[in-house]
Amino acid sequence: MLTSENILKAVVLAGGFGTRLRPLSCSRPKMLFPVANQPLIDYTLRNLAQGGVDTVILSVYYMAENLVRYLGPSKFDSGILYSREQRPLGTGGAIKKAQDIVNHETFFAMNGDILTDLDYRRLLNFHKEKGGLATIALMQVPDPSRYGAVELDWEGRILRFVEKPERGKEPSNLINAGVYVLEPEVLEYIPDGAARVSIETEVFPRLAEERKLYGFESHGFWMDVGLPEDYLHANAVLLSKTAQAKSPESVKIDPAAVIKKPCIFGENVRIGADSIIGPNVSLSDEVHVGKGCRIENSVVFPGAVIEDYSSVRNAIIGENAVLARWVKVESGSLIGDYAQISDGVTITENVYICPSKTVDESILVSKQVM
Ligand code: GTP
Repeated sequence: MLTSENILKAVVLAGGFGTRLRPLSCSRPKMLFPVANQPLIDYTLRNLAQGGVDTVILSVYYMAENLVRYLGPSKFDSGILYSREQRPLGTGGAIKKAQDIVNHETFFAMNGDILTDLDYRRLLNFHKEKGGLATIALMQVPDPSRYGAVELDWEGRILRFVEKPERGKEPSNLINAGVYVLEPEVLEYIPDGAARVSIETEVFPRLAEERKLYGFESHGFWMDVGLPEDYLHANAVLLSKTAQAKSPESVKIDPAAVIKKPCIFGENVRIGADSIIGPNVSLSDEVHVGKGCRIENSVVFPGAVIEDYSSVRNAIIGENAVLARWVKVESGSLIGDYAQISDGVTITENVYICPSKTVDESILVSKQVM
């Protein structure tokens, strides 16, 4: 068993398709989605480095090259090794694949698509004290019905998982936060083979039955980025936490524009007269907004253009997309990279426009436009 002083490795799962964020995840892995203008994976890696992890094993499959190109061999003082899958192995299979790098040591494993300020040292110390084969970080949420609730005994042992419990029937408000400390013996519970293996549903329930699984209650901040609304929420929370004092010098905002904080602007952003931007808006590098526009609670990816008098609310606009004049994009809609939305078009709620699509007529029912 290792001590908290010398634990070094964390397997970070970053190979998923991010299907719930399509079409934006068609052209980039979820880990590279900007959150307050920084790729999601940066937050995880920074927090792990602060927790004393010096080697991250990034488990990659979907769009692996984009991640390798962005991160390279190290980031935030942690070395990065890549465990590449030839096909998606599921969360358990992906952890098992990294076993040679883990090399018979206690290690962290986690989903790469969560934002948390979890104290990894405390998690590890708890794990050592309890002496189980695995410890899951647990977070308290007001409504666990979307996730799965955990039942604990008085010693912190996990007794069972209740998937998507009915309101009022949940054994607790504690859910699996997607961060684990694992002993190498856990890898023996993950079969080698063709099928995907989920550590959450196939391995942890067995460990709980054998009374070898513990839960560590963490009270910090935690969000997972699964759905578009989770992503916008995460962006808003991170904006309020990291509220940038000053925009880059290259940003040009017309004096007659109104900025409602918190907002963040990348390099060379332009904002025209009488536009009202914010709150909770991230404009990435090279985004141009014309005059009289209204953007609220939204993320705009690099190079997108929003022409005069257009409005965007609770929506995500892809890279180099163009919204012409008088366009309206409503809540929950996702505009794919390089899409072109013509003058006067309204895109109603929850419409997903595929990359490079040209839209000349309003879309007034929720749907995917291929
Ligand atoms: P959805 O397709 O929208 O459900 O998103 P996702 O692909 O991210 O799936 P999910 O949220 O269930 O995944 C949780 C974490 O595990 C994410 O960080 C994924 O990148 C990662 N993950 C899921 N499946 C695999 C896999 O087969 N291999 C690897 N390496 N990582 C995975």
